[in-house]
Amino acid sequence: MKLAFADRAFWLGDSDFVQVPRGLAAKEYARSLAQKINLDHATAVASHGMPSDWLTNSFRKHTTHFSAADSEGNWVACTATVNTSFGSKVVIPGTGVVMNNQMDDFSIQPGVTNFFGLIGAEANAIAPGKRPLSSMSPTIVLANEKPILSLGAAGGPKIITQVVCELCELLDLHMTLEQALKQPRIHHQWFPDRLMIEPSLPAHLQQELRRRGHILEIIPSMGVSQILQRAPGAESFAGGADPRAGGTARGW
Ligand code: DON
Repeated sequence: MKLAFADRAFWLGDSDFVQVPRGLAAKEYARSLAQKINLDHATAVASHGMPSDWLTNSFRKHTTHFSAADSEGNWVACTATVNTSFGSKVVIPGTGVVMNNQMDDFSIQPGVTNFFGLIGAEANAIAPGKRPLSSMSPTIVLANEKPILSLGAAGGPKIITQVVCELCELLDLHMTLEQALKQPRIHHQWFPDRLMIEPSLPAHLQQELRRRGHILEIIPSMGVSQILQRAPGAESFAGGADPRAGGTARGW
């Protein structure tokens, strides 16, 4: 998480304005970052990484994902937001439409934090017509080219870490949706250098993380995720709503 957020702080910004290296998503670059992780001690991350071909291979246009899942095999994952509560607190008269305050997702000055405590650099600076960075991560997972999972979350930068943890829990650890959704959440966004944890993380793990040099901050509840799953080849869907928000998944 720390390594990825250090990269986010330096490299990411509207790709109509800045060259975002494709190498950030390369397996070989992921392996080089993984090698920096020391299982016995927290790793100091002083700066962003350098994907090998950052100068010559960059993302151009982005794709916008909308979400829907039905018996005919159509799937969508969609995250929408006005950013913080009631956005800019301006309603367009006569419409009831609340305007967002997503401008806060820009980096207003290098090193100056936004509402979510994130820092950024020149790549995410404000400019006319430019889109701010977003942590929103609507995600669809394919197996043999068929969708098996659709997930996403609310929670600012904690969206990214919720989605990544849930993907590990579901795909690597083979948990059920309910198990994955109720796992104690952890979040690190490089700056500040703190590992945020939910209080339900077992005490022996908290103690062990501290012993390895992580600075822990307990946050009562982190984010809200929703997950939809269909096992490969299965007919039916399974839906999971985050117990933190108390909803239920519905099927028709
Ligand atoms: O796009 C972003 O990263 C933020 N505007 C998301 C805001 C958010 O998730 C607020 N919610 N819980």
